[in-house]
Amino acid sequence: MTDQAHPDRVIDGKAFAAGLRGRIGTAVAGLKADHGLTPGLAVVLVGEDPASQVYVRNKGKQTLEAGMNSWEHKLDATASEEEVLAIVSQLNNDPSVHGILVQLPLPDQIDTEKVINTIDPVKDVDGFHVINAGRLATGQDSMVPCTPVGCVMLAKDRLGSLSGLEAVVVGRSNIVGKPVAQLLLQENCTVTIAHSRTKDLPEVCRRADLVIAAVGRPEMVRGDWIKPGACVIDVGINRIDKEGGGTRLVGDVAYGEVLEVAGGVTPVPGGVGPMTIACLLYNTVGAACAQAGIDRPEI
Ligand code: GUN
Repeated sequence: MTDQAHPDRVIDGKAFAAGLRGRIGTAVAGLKADHGLTPGLAVVLVGEDPASQVYVRNKGKQTLEAGMNSWEHKLDATASEEEVLAIVSQLNNDPSVHGILVQLPLPDQIDTEKVINTIDPVKDVDGFHVINAGRLATGQDSMVPCTPVGCVMLAKDRLGSLSGLEAVVVGRSNIVGKPVAQLLLQENCTVTIAHSRTKDLPEVCRRADLVIAAVGRPEMVRGDWIKPGACVIDVGINRIDKEGGGTRLVGDVAYGEVLEVAGGVTPVPGGVGPMTIACLLYNTVGAACAQAGIDRPEI
């Protein structure tokens, strides 16, 4: 029931992400030396949500470690929509800023869609702008949301080609479920998007060679939902109460149970989470190259 019981089944996203960040650092050094180009990422944080503060701090740290420029714009929780839109416009017009990320969720007084759709699509390193979502859905070059890219990288690393596989995505959010389904279609998977109204979800999951769990419900996907040998990618990050007090992080997958059946499964923490920031850096390099009119280096 532990990682030690089946070490070969644990998909180590933390190690994969560290390798990816190392390759990104090498690519950034090359862009500086050959083109005088230093990719730059600006992050906008509104309010004091503790989880968002941790994410933003980690993003800034890892951006600098990769050799890129990093800026943080912090606004009070009471900031107006106009203030946020003004910062986004200023960043759109700043040529040293290649990527803009507005940390979500935003406070209620701010229209999230309006803010996201004000970001210049070529600087939208989250891939949330409606233009990028549409370009992804129609198979055109686009900025692709970071967590879905990370999920597909881990799945391909474990399974090789995904072509022809049955993939079940549990969750239909704009941030993960829908874009990861698009990426899996591009990889020639047969894709089912399941959600809270899906009839007999366990049976739907049991036919999958690849399960992507992104529902935000602690340990919902059970061991007996999984076909023996299937690959399971857990996007969930849920904080639950621990027996005897305190809290702990769990995913959307009942990890111990699934580890007994699956061919591979991502742990929480240490699976998909570290991939998201690494893919954000990857997108920022791509955005900087596109804006400078040079080919993106192999990473
Ligand atoms: N909040 C939680 N995840 C994300 C993400 O991937 N991007 C942004 N902008 N905010 C988030």
